[in-house]
Amino acid sequence: MKDFRIAPSILSADFARLGEEAQAVLDAGADMIHFDVMDNHYVPNLTFGPMVCKSLRNYGITADIDVHLMVKPVDGMIEAFLEAGASYITFHPEASEHIDRSLQMIRAGGAKAGLVLNPATGTDVLEYVMDKLDMILLMSVNPGFGGQKFIPSTLEKARKVRKLIDDSGYDIRLEIDGGVGVANIREIADAGVDTFVAGSAIYNQDDYAAVISQMRAELAK
Ligand code: DX5
Ligand code: ZN
Repeated sequence: MKDFRIAPSILSADFARLGEEAQAVLDAGADMIHFDVMDNHYVPNLTFGPMVCKSLRNYGITADIDVHLMVKPVDGMIEAFLEAGASYITFHPEASEHIDRSLQMIRAGGAKAGLVLNPATGTDVLEYVMDKLDMILLMSVNPGFGGQKFIPSTLEKARKVRKLIDDSGYDIRLEIDGGVGVANIREIADAGVDTFVAGSAIYNQDDYAAVISQMRAELAK
């Protein structure tokens, strides 16, 4: 079976108990923590920054932390998150003046690098940087909030990007973010996605392990 990874978004966690909430989903079988950074500028919402990422590391979170930057500009935050212990750092191409340079900064700092495509953003931007990518994140909602509905056209885009990755020969994860749950995870995997962000689908349930095992059961079908 494919190396599927489930990445709960702590955007839907109880922020007052963030360390416990991050550890709880990992204990419940998640593979990594998805960390949504919003700046009330690139997106109309405000969350948390590098100090909070560092606090999770100090708390004892050793799993990969998948930092999704919804900030503009990006380069200062890339540096700060490299310091703070991020494992993956992804950003939106619209938010960087020099995409190639921002990607290089991430890898030079020892993290894995990725680009995030909004629902209406085309795939052209990927063409000349495939060799600098460890992850491509497809937004299946407009960024800024948890709990939105999955935009179906993302499936076609996922199939297209899966082919780009396979044709390139590079080892690049294909991640999806927004409106993912037990009911649609299988269909999304069939479109070529291997890494699944889920916020409200996991954190809005009492039993995190039950949801994650239902997702795994769907992926095993
Ligand atoms: C939205 C964020 C997502 C969000 C997903 O801008 O990037 O990671 O938390 O939330 P759900 O899974 O609830 O759609
Ligand atoms: Zn996200």
